Amino acid sequence: MSDIQNQIAANGQAALSSVAAAQTLADLDHVRVTVLGKKGTLSEALKSLGQVPAEERPKLGALANEWKSKVESAIDARKVDLEAKQIELELVKTKLDVTLPSRKIHQGSLHPITQTVRKVSQVLGRIGFDVAVGPEIETDFLNFEAVNIPKDHPARDMQDTFFIGPGVVLRSQTSPVQMRAMRSQKWPVRILSPGVVYRCDSDATHSPMFHQIEGLWVDQKVSLADLKGVLDFFAKELFGSDTKIRLRPSYFPFVEPGAEVDVSCAICAGKNPTCSMCKGTGWLEILGAGMVHPRLFELAGYTPSEVSGFAFGMGVERIAMLLHDIPDLRLMFQGDQRFLKQF
Ligand code: PHE
Repeated sequence: MSDIQNQIAANGQAALSSVAAAQTLADLDHVRVTVLGKKGTLSEALKSLGQVPAEERPKLGALANEWKSKVESAIDARKVDLEAKQIELELVKTKLDVTLPSRKIHQGSLHPITQTVRKVSQVLGRIGFDVAVGPEIETDFLNFEAVNIPKDHPARDMQDTFFIGPGVVLRSQTSPVQMRAMRSQKWPVRILSPGVVYRCDSDATHSPMFHQIEGLWVDQKVSLADLKGVLDFFAKELFGSDTKIRLRPSYFPFVEPGAEVDVSCAICAGKNPTCSMCKGTGWLEILGAGMVHPRLFELAGYTPSEVSGFAFGMGVERIAMLLHDIPDLRLMFQGDQRFLKQF
């Protein structure tokens, strides 16, 4: 056997043991390069065949090629093994415990105030009221003068207002939204204006920031009877079909006549003198209302003799407190989960 023949066989054997010893895909690749690469041992052997006598070349060439394919298939087989080993290793490392309990899904819920606004809007939406909104920073003119509360009018004391600049206030009521609507469109107008309002007031039943919903219906021949019909429907939808309403004459500068509206107490119907809701009176005040003052039509650019209308306004927190028997209004602004989770 010639030296070259021995050399080829030795190189081939060495390559096979390196393949068998390779522990990673990187090791294996290294073997491939050092044996079969351009400068690899077997490739060099093939190149040196130029120096052997011509009659020996075919035999030696065949031998070298035989070893080359032996090593190639050994590398391929080892590669399959090593890849399987690697997957195995990864599986062990990233073990999944399918018995672990899953993460809890936290479901949010709507704040009782949002729920109440939506409920009221939905009930009145069914009889044709559209929702209208306006800015919380309002002009003194629209918040007061345009709704018939001129400067120095004693009615300004009814709403302790935050003045934030000359002629600018944090709106103390959502009535300016009604005025904005009338000034921007011709009658008929039938709107609801839910929104945040501000008054300098704070105790168990008052908050410096609270929510109001006002309603306005202006058309030809809208009457006090229509107002009563709408409020009766509203009260029955909100508090139950047995609910009765009662109108007591009252004063609001933007309506004439004006009234405070009560609903019958669903808890005791006036039969329990110590009832926590109605204190035994049988009635709970829920809103203010009345027939739109002709002065407002003038300021809106309507002809007062052509139209009539009614308006009503309620505090959303008060309605929510009555609906859910909430004792203190401040609970609604503290963000306490124990309170909020009940809704
Ligand atoms: N804006 C009035 C208030 O805040 C509520 C109201 C509206 C009363 C419409 C009567 C008519 O007191």
